[in-house]
Amino acid sequence: MYNEKVMDHFQNPRNAGEMLKPSGVGEVGNMKCGDIMKIFIKVENDHIVDINFLTFGCGAAIASSSVLTEMVKGKTLDEAMAVTNMDVANQLGGLPEAKLHCSNLAADALHKAIADYRSKNLSA
Ligand code: FES
Repeated sequence: MYNEKVMDHFQNPRNAGEMLKPSGVGEVGNMKCGDIMKIFIKVENDHIVDINFLTFGCGAAIASSSVLTEMVKGKTLDEAMAVTNMDVANQLGGLPEAKLHCSNLAADALHKAIADYRSKNLSA
């Protein structure tokens, strides 16, 4: 049901775990399946210099979080904000139709983490 890349990110997730003293945190949940995803970012000079995730969810949700962290590490906040749910699914080489909502969590949590950082650093 899942392709090799999804299975790889599911079985060997990159950047998994909590971050101490993040610059911003974003958390989203899916009401239907009950899955929860949390993204932590460290920001320096308007760039995401580090990113971690905690995902309590299905394999596609874990793979989406993992690949997302690789996609946006080193990017500017604006570049990371432009990453869409579809970009995450495409980066994984596609997800089964019924699992597309799982990749939505990743981009949504990232965007929330950036909004959280920005709201705390309005004068920066
Ligand atoms: Fe809910 Fe995948 S089934 S995030």
